[in-house]
Amino acid sequence: MSSLITLRGAQESDLDAVMLLESSTFAGDAWPREMMRAELANPHGHYLVAEMMHASLVVGYAGLLCPRDSGDGDIQTIAVSHEMRGQGVGRSLLVALISEARDRGATRIFLEVRADNDPAQALYRNLGFIPIGVRKGYYQPDGVDAVSMRLDLGVSARPGSRSPGEEMEGAC
Ligand SMILES: CC(C)(COP(=O)(O)OP(=O)(O)OC[C@H]1O[C@@H](n2cnc3c(N)ncnc32)[C@H](O)[C@@H]1OP(=O)(O)O)[C@@H](O)C(=O)NCCC(=O)NCCS
Repeated sequence: MSSLITLRGAQESDLDAVMLLESSTFAGDAWPREMMRAELANPHGHYLVAEMMHASLVVGYAGLLCPRDSGDGDIQTIAVSHEMRGQGVGRSLLVALISEARDRGATRIFLEVRADNDPAQALYRNLGFIPIGVRKGYYQPDGVDAVSMRLDLGVSARPGSRSPGEEMEGAC
């Protein structure tokens, strides 16, 4: 990632910038503003923004849901502005979220991604996520399938923790 870009924890004051990216990236499927506000404030979550250092311009964001000691984390969302894609910003955001999940004691991270989203699937595979199932017609109203993916963090999963069919809500 360019040295002109830095990652930092998202704050409520980032809500406008995050929503601008959210609505331009996900168009008809964007999260409502109040939902995003609640996500940024959730103590079980961890949201990061990627910012151009000298312009205070938010060019990406990503979020993790990972209650401490639950053993599992979920990538809630990730987006990078069109102009800044392909420069390692998405990878850096995800690597930082994976590190945070480890710090919170997670042994597995889950996510859902549209079956027709090749760049995002490539990014996740590149970081070690493996496909574990398909949810038919998960993304409505388009009726597009979701591919469920999981990253194992190198420690055996705890007995009684979630099976692949039991992911938390919150697909990106
Ligand atoms: C998916 C997304 C976050 C990737 O961000 P990015 O900053 O462009 O990704 P990076 O530059 O860090 O790329 C990291 C890896 O992702 C993969 N990747 C990224 N863009 C890709 C593309 N257009 N085609 C194929 N693979 C791609 C590659 O494996 C790449 O590794 P490489 O550089 O070694 O080839 C970005 O494309 C985006 O915001 N998309 C729209 C929102 C979205 O789809 N979010 C995911 C919802 S689940």
